[in-house]
Order: sequence, then structure tokens, then C-alpha cells
Amino acid sequence: MREELILRSLWFEDNSLMIIDQTLLPGEFRIVKLSSCDEVAHAIKTLMVRGAPAIGVAAAYGFYLGIKDCSEGNIDERLDESYELLRSTRPTAVNLFWALERVRGVAITARPAGVDATKVAILNEAHRMAEEDVATNRKIGEYGSTLIKDGFNILTHCNAGALATVDYGTALGVIRAAHEKGKRVHVYADETRPLLQGARLTAWELKRDGIPVTLIADNMAGFLMKQGRIDMVVVGADRIAQNGDTANKIGTYSVAVLAARNNVPFYIAAPLSTVDMSLNNGSEIPIEERSHEEVTTVKGQRIAPEGVDVYNPAFDITEAELIKGIITEKGIAYPPYKESLQKFFND
Ligand code: MRU
Repeated sequence: MREELILRSLWFEDNSLMIIDQTLLPGEFRIVKLSSCDEVAHAIKTLMVRGAPAIGVAAAYGFYLGIKDCSEGNIDERLDESYELLRSTRPTAVNLFWALERVRGVAITARPAGVDATKVAILNEAHRMAEEDVATNRKIGEYGSTLIKDGFNILTHCNAGALATVDYGTALGVIRAAHEKGKRVHVYADETRPLLQGARLTAWELKRDGIPVTLIADNMAGFLMKQGRIDMVVVGADRIAQNGDTANKIGTYSVAVLAARNNVPFYIAAPLSTVDMSLNNGSEIPIEERSHEEVTTVKGQRIAPEGVDVYNPAFDITEAELIKGIITEKGIAYPPYKESLQKFFND
């Protein structure tokens, strides 16, 4: 398949999960075939496939790959093993756990009908989730684009685009939808240290779509806001507590504080599968810590002295009071979030 024809971050083909290896972009566009649950778990851990919604759907397919060769005798054991392995890959994005609960529920319901029926049910559910994700992002884009005026300059952090979902994106979906409606938009993309998802992935995606994008280093955002260059901030989310506190890529909180200081509206764009109503607030969201090498090196090149102490939290929490609205597939939730989000779940 040719690169320019592929928009999806992942798809199912030849009884395997196909992904674009996001660790190699933008230098190399490589499609990787994952044929086992172990391979999917490894790809999620190493960020070959990343972004909360994409992780969830990849895990659903991984769950299927974990049991696809099972017999009546070993499927129950493998269902448990696959579930535990995939759960252990990344702790912050709740979409992972949401997706695994959903496919496991389907497996439990189908199980009395036999091993083959269980396999088919799991795979069909993974397909359904993949299709739903795209439709959900389109709706997020539709609602979110109403916030964007012609000529807006929009800042985003990390990558909440097609690559982070199955297709279209959440935060970038909002921007794409505005662009598709003929509004002139210009994006400032934070590079997003340490793993540079903004520089490597957001800039790549937007350029590919012909949406004007300017790359900035993370520490430039405040100055641009002060200069009046930013009309709006929109970012994705990995987990949103019931009060609206939001975990997203490290550095998001700094952007939100700067936005508040400079009167720039700050929005989250995320599907309801990213909302964790079981948590009261952001302090209950588990924050992933990753390896020191991600900070001491850039693309394999060491930039810090050997043996230096490092702290590398992969996400931070933005308090609800800094968030102007949460754009979901059911509409835009406004404070107080506990009520507005609950209403969307009830609708
Ligand atoms: O560590 P990553 O690259 O998986 O982090 C991704 C983010 O923080 C995204 O903003 C978030 O998952 C939303 S993706 C639509």
C-alpha cells in the first residue's frame, strides 16, 4: 500500500494488526505487522502505537490475537493472560482499560456458545470499536469546529491527531473539521519534549493535510500568547476525572496556566471513553513514569552527562478550572463538569 493512501494509524489485515510505527516518523514511514498479543503489548509499551484512543483499539485487537489460535481447552486461561498483559502496558490512558473491559465483556457473553463463537465475537467487537472511533472523532470535530473563527491561530501540544486515534483525531480533528469547512486556520505545534510527538507527528500530519503549521519549542508558548499570536488552545486527553481534571501529555498543564494568564481559551477534545467517572479528581489518575533515556537522549544522541539524576513523568494534570470546555462526541461540556459530563453519559 502506498503511503499517501493511508490515513489510518492501524487496521486489521491478514489476521494481524497493522500499524504505522510512530517511533520512526517522520524520517521513515514503516508499516509493521503484529500477529500476537505479545507483539501488540510491546508496540503499545514502546509507543510504536500511541495516543489514548489508538491504544484502546490496538489492545482490543491484541486481545483477539491472544486467543485466535486457542482451543476449547486453553482459551479461558489465554483470555485472562492476554487481558492482564495488555492492562500492564501503560497506566494513564483510561481508553486502554475501557477497551479491554468492553472486549472481555463480549468474550464472557459469547463464551457459552463455544471457542469459535468467542473468537468471532471479540474480533467483531474490535472492528466495531475501530469504526466507532472514527465516527466519534468526526462528531468531536463537528462540535469543536464551531469554536473556531476564520483566521484563528491555534496552539496544540503533543499529537492528538489521526495517528493518536484510528483516524481523523480529536484535537486535530477539531482543526481538520474547521479547515474542511473552509475556515482559515493556522496551527502552532509545541514540539513536546521528551519524545517530540508535536515535532515528529503533529507537524507531519498537518503538513500532509495541507493545514498551515508552525513548529515551536515547548518553552516558546508563553511568549507567543503574550504577543497575542494565539486565539485558542486545543489538546487531547488521556484520562478525565469526573470533576474535569484532565491528564494529558507532560507540558499540557504549563500550557493551560499560560493560557489562563494570557486570557487564551483552553479546550480539551476527547471521546467519552476517555472520561473516568469513577475518579473524583485528577489526583487519583495514575501517572506513567518512563525511562531516563527519553530525557537524557534525543533520537539516540546523548544530551546529558552520564549518571545524571532524571525524573520523567509522561503526563500531567490540568485542573478543571483552567479548562474552558471539554469537546466530546455528544457536545461541548462546560463547568461544572461532573454534571455536564454525566448528562452526556445519560443521553
Ligand atoms: O505518550 P503518548 O504519545 O501516548 O501521549 C499521547 C497524548 O498525550 C495525547 O494527547 C492523548 O493520548 C490524546 S490522543 C487523541
